[in-house]
Amino acid sequence: MEKYVIHGGTTLHGEVEISGAKNAAVAIIPAALMVDGVCVIENMPQISDTEMLLTILRELGAKIRYLNRSTVEIDCTNVWMQDAPYDLMRKIRASYYLIGAMLGRFGHAKTTMPGGCNFGVRPIDQHIKGMNALGADVDVKSGFVYADARDGKLHGARIYLDKVSVGATMNIILAATLAQGRTIIENAAREPHIVDLANFLNSMGADIRGAGTDTVKVNGVERLHGGSYAIIPDQIEAGTYMVAAAATGGEVLIKNVIPRHLECISAKLRETGTIVLENGDTVLVKGASALRKINVKTLPYPGFPTDMQPPMCALLCVANGTSVITEGVYDNRYKYVNELRKMGAEIQVDGRVAVVEGGKRLSGAPVTACDLRAGAAMVIAGMCAAGTTVVEDVRFIERGYENFVGKLNALGADIHIVDEAEETDGREKILSIMG
Ligand code: UD1
Repeated sequence: MEKYVIHGGTTLHGEVEISGAKNAAVAIIPAALMVDGVCVIENMPQISDTEMLLTILRELGAKIRYLNRSTVEIDCTNVWMQDAPYDLMRKIRASYYLIGAMLGRFGHAKTTMPGGCNFGVRPIDQHIKGMNALGADVDVKSGFVYADARDGKLHGARIYLDKVSVGATMNIILAATLAQGRTIIENAAREPHIVDLANFLNSMGADIRGAGTDTVKVNGVERLHGGSYAIIPDQIEAGTYMVAAAATGGEVLIKNVIPRHLECISAKLRETGTIVLENGDTVLVKGASALRKINVKTLPYPGFPTDMQPPMCALLCVANGTSVITEGVYDNRYKYVNELRKMGAEIQVDGRVAVVEGGKRLSGAPVTACDLRAGAAMVIAGMCAAGTTVVEDVRFIERGYENFVGKLNALGADIHIVDEAEETDGREKILSIMG
């Protein structure tokens, strides 16, 4: 188990390159299962979530090899229907995409209920509703999801989502791609990674229109063929470095981004007094000498992303004045607030609203990364704090940020990765020497 030891009071300066989008990659890897041929996927982020999904595919019989650090070749020509490794599936949220992809390829699927970050109850009823409409029976029993196409094949249908759900939209797109006939998804989510999944599938022969709007139309095709595709840059990784630069009062050029996808984050940062300049595929972020309070509400895209809520909260702790955050997507996404309080933050939470009394000088403390984005918030707070912060459970952070510590240190942060096992071992050795 590793932890990060952060010496605070650093200001970020320099350039950082953004990796491929996690939330696109974790759908595109399962999508490759439906491709009859070889897919070459560029800009694959090197994070534990994608590694786990690639391992799952390999265990299903896929041939996988890296052509370079971020380009992976996946050949699912000879995969066969078998039990997928449940211990891996349980750990990641995105394992739910295997339901849509396996149903599309084999006409049935057996997976675990998805894992991932715990923001309270995260039901998959809209995924199931979609699969049912496409002609699959879905049964959830003892932590497993069993799905079977009633007549061995899925059929297009009209599906209205009761909730705007990224996962359900992508899963239904996956299942509908090889279904017979036309599927129409209404009240679909519009996130950039949905467009990316559709673009990937279309480049392999699918017929998907309207991704990025609230009505997605999928005309089922017989088969998908191999091809090459480059994943879009990660909106949330870029947003995290933008917030980190602003919170530490630094100046960072963020490269390999799509500024349009960052508009919702740039707009709120500008309200804090931060300068954000877009140029081609870069954004330059210059922190203000004194950050201002803001009110922010998370919403589905193009609203302010819920995944940016914890990093933004860390920033607002050091901004002047009282800010109000309203969480519009999840019921319970403030567990990490207790960790920020250990560092001296003053935050009151009432249901989905958090009131942040800013302008406090944070001080280093031992804290935990409760989940992926909460972990990023702890690191940002640690860089702003006086003294040393130790962040435990960093495996959550490594699920979604490629080389987080390396990239931050290259910008001037002072973060060490410490292996707790080695540390304990060393301590025990010293104790045994001391007799
Ligand atoms: C995805 C992202 C996650 C991000 C979230 C919202 C991945 C792997 N994860 O998660 O990082 O925080 O989008 O942008 O892409 N809901 C239901 N029933 C369902 C599905 C969802 O009630 O069947 C609810 C959820 O509990 C939540 C809301 O709808 O309150 C949105 O969830 P959803 O967009 O589905 O999030 P995920 O796909 O799980």
